[in-house]
Amino acid sequence: MSSVDYSEKIPNNVNLSEDRTLQRALEHWQPNYINWWQDMGPDGSQNFDVYLRTAVSVDPQGWAQFGHVKMPDYRWGIFLNPAEKDRKIHFGDHKGEDAWQDVPGEHRANLRRIIVTQGDTEPASVEQQRHLGLTCPSQYDLRNLFQVNVEEGRHLWAMVYLLHKYFGRDGREEAEALLERSSGDQDNPRILGAFNEKTPDWLSYFMFTYFTDRDGKFQLCALAESSFDPLARTTKFMLTEEAHHMFVGESGVSRVIQRTCQVMNEMKTDDPAELRAAGVIDLPTIQRYLNFHFSVTIDLFGADQSSNAATFYSTGLKGRFDEAKRTDDHVLKGHSYKILDVQNGNLVEKEVPMLNALNEVLRDDYIKDSVGGVDRWNKVIDKAGIPFRLTVPHKAFHRSIGTLAGVKVNPKGNPITDHEWNQRVEEWLPTDEDRDFVVSLMGRVVDPGKFANWIAPPVMGINRQPVDFEYVRFN
Ligand SMILES: [Fe+2]
Ligand SMILES: [Fe+2]
Repeated sequence: MSSVDYSEKIPNNVNLSEDRTLQRALEHWQPNYINWWQDMGPDGSQNFDVYLRTAVSVDPQGWAQFGHVKMPDYRWGIFLNPAEKDRKIHFGDHKGEDAWQDVPGEHRANLRRIIVTQGDTEPASVEQQRHLGLTCPSQYDLRNLFQVNVEEGRHLWAMVYLLHKYFGRDGREEAEALLERSSGDQDNPRILGAFNEKTPDWLSYFMFTYFTDRDGKFQLCALAESSFDPLARTTKFMLTEEAHHMFVGESGVSRVIQRTCQVMNEMKTDDPAELRAAGVIDLPTIQRYLNFHFSVTIDLFGADQSSNAATFYSTGLKGRFDEAKRTDDHVLKGHSYKILDVQNGNLVEKEVPMLNALNEVLRDDYIKDSVGGVDRWNKVIDKAGIPFRLTVPHKAFHRSIGTLAGVKVNPKGNPITDHEWNQRVEEWLPTDEDRDFVVSLMGRVVDPGKFANWIAPPVMGINRQPVDFEYVRFN
């Protein structure tokens, strides 16, 4: 069944009404979720009518319906991709067996941990972004922020459904805990580091949606391969929503660059101080933000050698990115993979069993993918005739997890002394001054079709609406 039943309290395409116990449990969780949204969701926005898309069917054509909605009335629900008939497990030790429609007892703890870790990132990003609406550069951007926020809320629903349906009492407790942890909280923080960082300004936000939502894409792609079929089906649908989040990031950064280049050409200068005085973000500052978000995000893939990663793969819980498109044996025993190691202060390649290096495999796939958008940003700079290139830093730069944690490496990948790091870190990572400057640019622009000075308008509006469409009615 692909169409969504909106007559229910909880919209769904999983015949929820046929499972009264589950329905009641989720209806019990629902008001707690709404309370969380009121407390921790977008600040001061509860009464706005926002031009949002809502899933009406999980078919590739037209799953989205657009209309003005108050966010607390958004129809969050449970949408799974249609089941694939006779789906088989296609990697790991169980390759060739039927995919699981229920959780095998021996994998229960690991699957629960995977689902909770994924689920925890979803409300975390909403919390991280909750004040951004107060300083939006335009109505168009405000609407996109809110769209991303409601969809991250729906991703939380997706994981909570799995916890409630397949993990009994433990699952229900985990679902409650997902609403209790809080991004950046001293006592009860979110599980993963990058999801406790602040997103204090819109440049950070665009970098986050470009880099960190892309981590989401790669994690979801790996889970979409899972032998646990309900997890595979729910993550496949989440991926269709994720694409828009990365678009917001890529186009957002691109428009910041475009505006900066325009002012550079008008003023005939590349002097950061002059450009800042003119109210745009100089390219070296954009590079430092890029370095920060890239390095913090690649840590999310975990340690470069991990016995958990091997277990998750061999038992069929989590595949590789594009597992089905790969031409190896999909079991990987006896295969090896090159990771980076540190020897006498130098970075050297080291061959290790591939199964243990699957976090690194996914990280490397991610890095390849994220470079693409940076190339497109460089085209904007080229087109303006400005001799400057943004680059993705070396993967050993500014790492906190795995073998490379704490090794001092410059963005080009050359090991350096602590002394040199301390002397030059301000060239490579955003300083307090950079952050204060970027924050100082953030003012609220909400007249339809108007944009803050530091960002160019988009080429097109949302859902073929004009750029000056009334995307948000403030009431
Ligand atoms: Fe998400
Ligand atoms: Fe996302």
